[in-house]
Amino acid sequence: MRGVFVTGTDTGVGKTLVSAWLAHNWQAEYWKPIQTGAGEDSDADTIARLAPQVPIHPCAVTLQAPLSPHEAAKRERTRIDLSALTPPATQAPLVVEGAGGVMVPINEVALMIDLMARLRLPVVVVARSGLGTINHTLMTLEMLRRRQVPLLGVVMNGQKNPGNRQAIEHFGGVPVLAEIQPLLAVNQSVVAGLPPPAFSCPP
Ligand SMILES: Nc1ncnc2c1ncn2[C@@H]1O[C@H](COP(=O)(O)OP(=O)(O)OP(=O)(O)O)[C@@H](O)[C@H]1O
Ligand SMILES: [Mg+2]
Repeated sequence: MRGVFVTGTDTGVGKTLVSAWLAHNWQAEYWKPIQTGAGEDSDADTIARLAPQVPIHPCAVTLQAPLSPHEAAKRERTRIDLSALTPPATQAPLVVEGAGGVMVPINEVALMIDLMARLRLPVVVVARSGLGTINHTLMTLEMLRRRQVPLLGVVMNGQKNPGNRQAIEHFGGVPVLAEIQPLLAVNQSVVAGLPPPAFSCPP
């Protein structure tokens, strides 16, 4: 399987925006294995809005509560089984979007990072650009390294911060693949108008 796993240092850091941007430019397909907070706008709905030509695969698990997957599942008296999170078969590259960050529980024993380790797709870490990001990003990279999850690099989202970028590259030992500036609106034409990624989808 070809593609990337898009994770982040936190929830709300821009994983869906980055997924839309990558999938649009790579003619890739999109899959969000676990969607929580399904009552609200789902990430697949957002992708359909931001990159309408991107084929979207149904989530393996959809849960109503806007909580961590393990807790949202508990509320529905169910349990997420890691082995049930099987990626869809596809010829095109697949952009997989995680829920939250790497240490988000999926059930009482497994974390999102366990799913990443199983899928073995190179990981893109989406990080905020501003104060606090060095700590969150380096911890995320450290965990991924420990589990020997392949790392593609970091995408920084927000006002450019050359010092933070340099620190992440220096201490994290990974490239910052792209920087996405604050956008006045996040919609289809804005996503299509972003400069294409200067890196290609891993083979
Ligand atoms: N560069 C940006 N400029 C303006 N708004 C942005 C930017 N990046 C993200 N946003 C907005 O911030 C919000 C969170 O972004 P996004 O949904 O991509 O985060 P996420 O990491 O996918 O969140 P979740 O953990 O819920 O999946 C969205 O409303 C999005 O439109
Ligand atoms: Mg998202």
